[in-house]
Amino acid sequence: MGENGVRVLLIEDDEDDHFLVKTLLAEVSSNGSPKKYHLEWAPSYEQGMTLLSAGGYDVCLLDYRLGSRDGLELLREAVGRGCDIPIIFLTGQGSDEIDLEALRTGAADYMSKDQLSRQSLERSIRYSMANKQRELAERALRHSESLAAMGRALSTVAHDIKTPLIAIGGLTQMVCRHLESDSEDRKKLDIVLKETARLEKMVQDMLEFSKPLEVEKSLENPCRLVKETLSVVQKAAEDNGILLEANLRECSGVALDTARMKQALINLLMNGVQASPAGTTVRINLHRQGREVIFDVTDCGCGIPFEKRAEIFSPFFTTKKNGTGLGLPIVKKIVDAHNGRLEIRDNPDRGVTFRVALPVFP
Ligand SMILES: Nc1ncnc2c1ncn2[C@@H]1O[C@H](COP(=O)(O)OP(=O)(O)OP(=O)(O)O)[C@@H](O)[C@H]1O
Ligand SMILES: [Mg+2]
Repeated sequence: MGENGVRVLLIEDDEDDHFLVKTLLAEVSSNGSPKKYHLEWAPSYEQGMTLLSAGGYDVCLLDYRLGSRDGLELLREAVGRGCDIPIIFLTGQGSDEIDLEALRTGAADYMSKDQLSRQSLERSIRYSMANKQRELAERALRHSESLAAMGRALSTVAHDIKTPLIAIGGLTQMVCRHLESDSEDRKKLDIVLKETARLEKMVQDMLEFSKPLEVEKSLENPCRLVKETLSVVQKAAEDNGILLEANLRECSGVALDTARMKQALINLLMNGVQASPAGTTVRINLHRQGREVIFDVTDCGCGIPFEKRAEIFSPFFTTKKNGTGLGLPIVKKIVDAHNGRLEIRDNPDRGVTFRVALPVFP
């Protein structure tokens, strides 16, 4: 809820019903309610979905009848996209089955339009918002508890694997020195070395992910940070036939943990490189927007469907043969530790943009 009151989105194709809700909310606002209600009206399914996805609302009132489509369909789509504001379903009289289906689908409450009153509307909004807040807080707690448990398990396993892995890599290198570089045995051991290095990175990621992240901020020039990051990813980009491009428009100092932020940008750039077809460009765009410095990493890959956008941040979720699935969870952790925001945006043509927004004055 914003400082200026409750922002309500009404998705309703009937102008009279819009007028009714508007009048009732205006009455609530002018009848001593400590909160003011600001109503925005979406008269169609499509406009409703667009505004809901854009965000910025505290609660949504959703009509069942929406032209040729219906509110249940919209509710399903919104829940699938991870909508996290309460949606109150508005139906006609005697629609018990639909009301129950709406609750099963994820509606916070339902109200019959014939019985709408100032009090009932205000009460439903207030309760739905309070319930949603509690639900989100409980979910966040469960999530952090399960992450902590997973972190402890990971840390133990990773430590146990790390030492023998270092021994395998070191001893293999020693044996390699005594072999001709083009011998069959040497080629086999080169594969052992390559795979060991991959496992070492995996173990490193597991340890990184499992320990609490402490950031050490210092004043850093973000242009330099981006340039250094690009040089790390350059070789992998070339191997994949990808061009790397930078557009750097913000070069005043920002307080951040250089090593951590580099790591976050490397993970995003590597994902972009791995997702993009050869011959395309992965871009990093740096600019300032208000009190934030923005790093946009844009690729021309397959994109990420809305319903997958929560899943890709789960530890070990990967669709790659050699992926660990810790890249994005680590990015999220680093960005959170900087009090920043991590967003996924669709590009107008193809691919996605991962946006890291950091406060300039943390
Ligand atoms: N830019 C992107 N375009 C399309 N899909 C992406 C993109 N970035 C991430 N993904 C999807 O999210 C999944 C998880 O990404 P994440 O970086 O966490 O792990 P990974 O890249 O699979 O493995 P690694 O641990 O080596 O980074 C990827 O496997 C991929 O399916
Ligand atoms: Mg990755």
